[in-house]
Amino acid sequence: MASPKLKYLSLGVLVFQTTSLVLTMRYSRTIQGDGPRYLASSAVVIAELLKILACLLLVLKEHSYSLRALNSILRQEIVNKPMETLKLAIPSGIYTLQNNLLYVALSNLDAATYQVTYQLKILTTALFSVSMLGRRLGVYQWMSLLILMAGVALVQLNAYALLPRRIQWPSESPEAKEKEAQATGSQFVGVAAVLVACCSSGFAGVYFEKILKESKQSVWVRNIQLGMFGLVFGLFGMLAYDGERVRQSGVFQGYNMITWTVVALQALGGLVIAAVIKYADNILKGFATSLSIIVSTLISYFWLQDFDPTSTDPKVIHFSWRIVDRQSPNTNKCLGEEDYPGS
Ligand code: C5P
Repeated sequence: MASPKLKYLSLGVLVFQTTSLVLTMRYSRTIQGDGPRYLASSAVVIAELLKILACLLLVLKEHSYSLRALNSILRQEIVNKPMETLKLAIPSGIYTLQNNLLYVALSNLDAATYQVTYQLKILTTALFSVSMLGRRLGVYQWMSLLILMAGVALVQLNAYALLPRRIQWPSESPEAKEKEAQATGSQFVGVAAVLVACCSSGFAGVYFEKILKESKQSVWVRNIQLGMFGLVFGLFGMLAYDGERVRQSGVFQGYNMITWTVVALQALGGLVIAAVIKYADNILKGFATSLSIIVSTLISYFWLQDFDPTSTDPKVIHFSWRIVDRQSPNTNKCLGEEDYPGS
């Protein structure tokens, strides 16, 4: 039985990590500095590399900092058990796809829509937990899942229904029509990316939980196996999508402090999620990440004053999450979103 202290500690760190990641990631993808924007595919690779290094340090710590013990564990568990290692290629490939999809989603959706829609992963996780782990859910649990689906549907309805009125372009001009079509198109791309990510998140999470709970192997060794494949898939992805740009301006083009923060938070996420899956489970992980929506809303509203709950239509409560560029001379500039009426 896992210690309750570790269980709640890992869940608490997960709330912190998810809250900070979504805000910094959205900020990093929407703010335009002077140079080129960093390559999302390179951020995925670097985060994977950092995660492997951190896991190696954790295994080293588990074995009283003996390099010899580390070497023998890696040989025994990774090199000598190729079939066991290969099992991790499945969640790893899926996570690599997912990590790239989330950048697509956050480049096209505002943080609030993204976060709420991504909560559908609780539903996919529950379905995979039932089918793959034989977990049973009670009536109330199924009912909460239905309410979750209804909530996500309302957010989407809101985004589409308000789109033409939210954006203040003279609706007759051809440029306005083109912009409107682009905004609708990118909303669609963003939502499609999140929905695929929800399915991959549910499956990969439950698959990893099954592997962890069916063997006694250290979670950090499992994470190294996962990360090794992640690194290989990520490198392929980077070369396939951004090979030309990498050859021209290098892997670290457009990196700044914010990019490094995103990369570090993503690496931390990998560690914390592994710990949560081990000490708690995937469904509790879902609740922890949902809690992070409330935490980030409160932080934005009371502290950053970036969250602007507005209701332009009495029938529809409309939340717009505005990330303000504090360095910009125009401090009210809303990044990546158009100005809303009445704002
Ligand atoms: O949204 P979701 O909870 O599915 O996100 C899981 C994230 O955690 C992915 O970015 C995945 O790469 C990462 N992860 C990891 N190591 C694990 C499990 C997940 O890095 N053992």
